[in-house]
Amino acid sequence: MAVLSVAVAVMLGTIGGCSQETKPLAFEPNLVHAMKYEIKEGVPMEQASEDAFWIVTEMFGTPENPKLPSVITEDEEFASIVSVENLQRASGRIGEEGRGLYQTHCVTCHGVTGNGRGELSATMNPYPRDYRKGVFKFKSTERGEKPLREDLAGLIKNGINGSRMVAIPSLTEEDVEALVDYVIYLSWRGELERMLIDDAIYELDFEEGDRIINPAYQNSADEEEKEEFEDSWELAEDFAMEIGEAWLEAPDAVVEVPDPPEGFVVPDSHEEFVAAMSDDRAETLTASVERGRELFRGKIAACSKCHGENGRGDGQNTDYDDWTKEWTLGIGIKPENRDALIKLLARGALPPVNAKPRNFALGAFHGGAKASDLYMRITQGIEGSPMPAVTFVDGQFEEDDVWHLINFIRSLQESTEESGSETEAETPQQT
Ligand code: HEC
Ligand code: HEC
Repeated sequence: MAVLSVAVAVMLGTIGGCSQETKPLAFEPNLVHAMKYEIKEGVPMEQASEDAFWIVTEMFGTPENPKLPSVITEDEEFASIVSVENLQRASGRIGEEGRGLYQTHCVTCHGVTGNGRGELSATMNPYPRDYRKGVFKFKSTERGEKPLREDLAGLIKNGINGSRMVAIPSLTEEDVEALVDYVIYLSWRGELERMLIDDAIYELDFEEGDRIINPAYQNSADEEEKEEFEDSWELAEDFAMEIGEAWLEAPDAVVEVPDPPEGFVVPDSHEEFVAAMSDDRAETLTASVERGRELFRGKIAACSKCHGENGRGDGQNTDYDDWTKEWTLGIGIKPENRDALIKLLARGALPPVNAKPRNFALGAFHGGAKASDLYMRITQGIEGSPMPAVTFVDGQFEEDDVWHLINFIRSLQESTEESGSETEAETPQQT
């Protein structure tokens, strides 16, 4: 238990509020991911966790000295995903000349490691994103695909309405680009660490002494040991490239949002909705809202199941997001069963909080309020959350109906003011 418990002590120290100034900035190992398997499979995971961490540190460096593995830098396409110069700008400490963007603007929520575990995180719902799963919610690509750089850049620049992540007007274009690269970098690093552990669970026999990698073999005089090291390293490189490929493929997975059909009235904001309701578009728009209401409450689209009859987010609202589910329900533990979660909470898991269906009365849309944004959310769902992608049924619920749903949702907004960041992102309700 030595390694896991030392690391736990370090993490508890951070929560205790020790000053970060003098300590070196350090990435944390993904102990929750390892412990999850220790509980589920009953195999000891300390060594695996340490070995996976060794690999990602060799490949991706540290928060003060980030780097990329040679399989990435030496391949023109992979190298185009993240620029080392940008990583330099985004990483490092506050006050270091030309550096420290992430520490300045993001770390209090997303944590040094990008694990969503900054010092402010515990009061938010949803929690700040843990990038290590490689899953993002508000994107213009299909479900299952990575977001575009532009998606990430837009969120970083404008903030996420309805959450505590606010716009940062002081950021230049170059700053935003550097932060996008840094988010991808943290995600890449974190996803690789997870993949190494996931793969090892199925391929290796830890009880027999198998290792994800044995660093001591790197310069071994023994040919067999050296070869074993190289095989392990190459496998890790393959995983790193697999993740890179997913980022490269994103632009090919963009969803084309169609224009509303002729004769439809689909306002792009609440303001425009109110305006349309008081001119000659009112009749068409009212009919559309009615059709939307019917669908919303109907059996097929069944939006009210979660969002409630009047879209106040008061339907079924005791579900959890995938970040929480994978280390709770995923290993057969109920998130409500706090005693069973202690080992995981001690290793850095944030207490489970319910994933709340959006309350449309507030009019705050996390992924953007334009009709095309809502079209994306409704047709693709919101990845990692309980919000599903729609399933159309011929003659009953078809693609054009999405515009009616959007109009109905828009009609539910109760105030014309843009909902501020405080409204919905309240202290998580702990179950
Ligand atoms: C005050 C807290 C806070 C700060 C500061 C903050 N964020 Fe966030 N961030 C959040 C929260 C909360 C979410 C989750 C919102 C949600 O799921 O609706 C989030 C989500 C994200 C996402 C995921 C978007 C998606 O589509 O899934 C990215 C990327 C991100 N933040 C990047 C950043 C970067 C980069 C910075 C610094 C420039 C930053 N954030 C600063 C709280 C914060
Ligand atoms: C199984 C539960 C569930 C069902 C069914 C469901 N939703 Fe959601 N919906 C959610 C949750 C949870 C969220 C919040 C997700 C998040 O941001 O993490 C959400 C968020 C949304 C958002 C907010 C998007 C944004 O950018 O903020 C819209 C719009 C939405 N849902 C529309 C719909 C519509 C329309 C339907 C029916 C076709 C529907 N939902 C069905 C659970 C559900």
